[in-house]
Amino acid sequence: MSTLEFRDLWVRFGSGHTAFDAVRGVNLTVASGKVVGLVGESGSGKSTIARTAVGLSEPHHGQILLDGVDVAHAKGSAVHARQRIQMVFQDPYSCLDPRMSIGASIREAIDVTEKRKRRESANYQPLSRAARDARVGELLALVELDPARASAFPGGFSGGQRQRVALARALAAEPDVLLADEITSALDVSVQGTVLNLLLDLQKQLNLTVLFISHNLAVVSRVCDEIVVMNRGEIIEHGPTSQVIDNPQDPYTQELIEAVPQIGVPLFG
Ligand SMILES: Nc1ncnc2c1ncn2[C@@H]1O[C@H](COP(=O)(O)OP(=O)(O)OP(=O)(O)O)[C@@H](O)[C@H]1O
Ligand SMILES: [Mg+2]
Repeated sequence: MSTLEFRDLWVRFGSGHTAFDAVRGVNLTVASGKVVGLVGESGSGKSTIARTAVGLSEPHHGQILLDGVDVAHAKGSAVHARQRIQMVFQDPYSCLDPRMSIGASIREAIDVTEKRKRRESANYQPLSRAARDARVGELLALVELDPARASAFPGGFSGGQRQRVALARALAAEPDVLLADEITSALDVSVQGTVLNLLLDLQKQLNLTVLFISHNLAVVSRVCDEIVVMNRGEIIEHGPTSQVIDNPQDPYTQELIEAVPQIGVPLFG
């Protein structure tokens, strides 16, 4: 259980007269064990926030705290702390190496986790080779894939199955926080529901803190405890899901909600 907190986060791309602030003074707490949805139009800064939390972008100003430890300016042990935040991306095709079996991909992440655990505690008993191999199978089973397929390559899997592999790889890091960035957007509508249900099951089972980024307000309202609305790099609304959907305060949020006719209609069982 971990709380992720963004404190007055600014992210700037470019410099001088071409400087552009993609994220402008964001304050956001994703409380331990909660699923917080982040919505807003394309280019509003949603992915940039998540990417900065995992070290793929630099903050220009501000802090990102994981249980009070600044991971945005991570050095030394804080770099390892950052591995407790894992991100899953929209495109399950690009994040897996096509020349590596899915088992090897997951195994690689397990090896990184083992290194981290050894650094974190001198008393840590490393997993044997056999135990690491067994862990690959456990993780595949956890995302509801057949462990017998560990030796298969990503090309042999459907989009939804690859997204499960990407989840297994992220979970190999034993994260406390999962950043899910449009994880179902590239999938057929028919498999979106099963991947979302899996995410929710895993969240409960592993007590994950989740930042769930999506364009789809209907999906967000179905899976999230709270909704955060971004516009042009700023948070313009944040509240419990029912409050934001039923009683939006900001005109921009009202527009977003009005644009979703199916809101309130169950999308999947
Ligand atoms: N590496 C980069 N260099 C320059 N500009 C960038 C970079 N990454 C993002 N931006 C810009 O920052 C802004 C925010 O981008 P971001 O990807 O965070 O938006 P988003 O809300 O995730 O959009 P989408 O819904 O389309 O995924 C955009 O204007 C984008 O062009
Ligand atoms: Mg994005």
